[in-house]
Amino acid sequence: MSQTILRGRVLTFVSEPQAIDDVASYRYYEDGGVVILDGKIIAVEPWSAIAPLGADYIDHRPHLILPGFIDMHLHYVQSQMIASYAGSLLEWLNTYTFVEEQKFSQQGHAGSVASAFYDELIRNGTTTAVAYCSSHPRSVDAYFAEAEQRNMLMLGGKVMMDRNAPDALCDTAQSSYDDTKELIARWHGRGRGLYAISPRFAITSTPGQLEAAQALVAEHPEAYVQTHLSENDAEISYSMELYPDAPDYTGIYENYGLLGPKTLLGHCIHLNHRETGVLAETGSVAVFCPTSNLFLGSGLFDRERLVKHGVRIGLATDIGGGTSYSMLRTMDEGYKILQLRGQRLNPFASFYMATLGNARSLSLDGTIGAVAPGNAADLVVLNAAATPAMALRMATVNSLAEELFLLQTMGDDRSVAEVYVAGARAKSTLGGL
Ligand code: GUN
Ligand code: ZN
Repeated sequence: MSQTILRGRVLTFVSEPQAIDDVASYRYYEDGGVVILDGKIIAVEPWSAIAPLGADYIDHRPHLILPGFIDMHLHYVQSQMIASYAGSLLEWLNTYTFVEEQKFSQQGHAGSVASAFYDELIRNGTTTAVAYCSSHPRSVDAYFAEAEQRNMLMLGGKVMMDRNAPDALCDTAQSSYDDTKELIARWHGRGRGLYAISPRFAITSTPGQLEAAQALVAEHPEAYVQTHLSENDAEISYSMELYPDAPDYTGIYENYGLLGPKTLLGHCIHLNHRETGVLAETGSVAVFCPTSNLFLGSGLFDRERLVKHGVRIGLATDIGGGTSYSMLRTMDEGYKILQLRGQRLNPFASFYMATLGNARSLSLDGTIGAVAPGNAADLVVLNAAATPAMALRMATVNSLAEELFLLQTMGDDRSVAEVYVAGARAKSTLGGL
């Protein structure tokens, strides 16, 4: 039995904040204690209730202890091609992405990239992420092996793609089915790993491959599904040319039975009325990827409209179309996109999205996403005065809302003071790591 006690300012959400003054949506302990036993949180209390135990503790005051961040969509195999100069999505994919991902056929490459990728996640306070691997099964093995070694709850899968990409990257409908099946058997539920069946998007999958994906989804209801939807105008037009019988882009995935409460759809920027209705009815998740949408000039996510239609929403970096591993940077860019839409996202709502909101969108609330008994002790400790400029601003901050807004507006990996994964310290600026 291993017990750890943390002391600090603890913030965790219990529901989605509807406004900046929605104090019922979160629990905040100005001086709180978190008791961790064997990787799980067993108690969260005001420090006055913990102090009488007289046990040793780690003091994180004046920093904030929150649930570790959750990143709902990124490509670990694109870690070495972030910041590639392109006009828009399809040019970027053809010029850089499909070239970079071919490297994962080489022995040893996936392991070294996976290791550096996880280091970046941890440096940025992300303790769970949902990643696309390349089309090579060995890239999936490296991804989950690294997660297992670090005891992290990670989701991901082999990209299925059998057309409109270089031959060296393409699989076939049959091989993608066989490989995915084998990978689910090997990795889903091993350690904290969870598998996501991952047809890349309609453009790179033949109807035969989407049928294979449909069979996989039917045979493996335990697995997640991830793909891209409605990111860019040219992508949408081409998808409709390739699937002329579908009513719209969402209809392609709908026709192959790929939608549902475990389906994560990256981007969802240009959806029509029917499409938002279908996403809401099926419980599919629209994943907002702000830094990527700005970088690739894809468009402005319409959060309010999706929420109004009852669509579940996630928040993600989308590395390497996205430009930062940091969920703080992601919240900031998300805020700016919504400003351009005339939609204000209050700081409680953005921290909710990156923690409990994303956990709920993965149907993993109760396991991750909250500093609450029964949850894994996957935690981030944030310092809102981490840089001279932040410290200068922090001197005039006089509310929790202002502090969170400062963190999301000026913060990055430097604001991540400590990270715990299943109760073990994975990043520390207090020394020792
Ligand atoms: N659509 C299909 N593949 C990709 C990808 O790798 N990145 C982004 N942003 N969109 C995609
Ligand atoms: Zn993506």
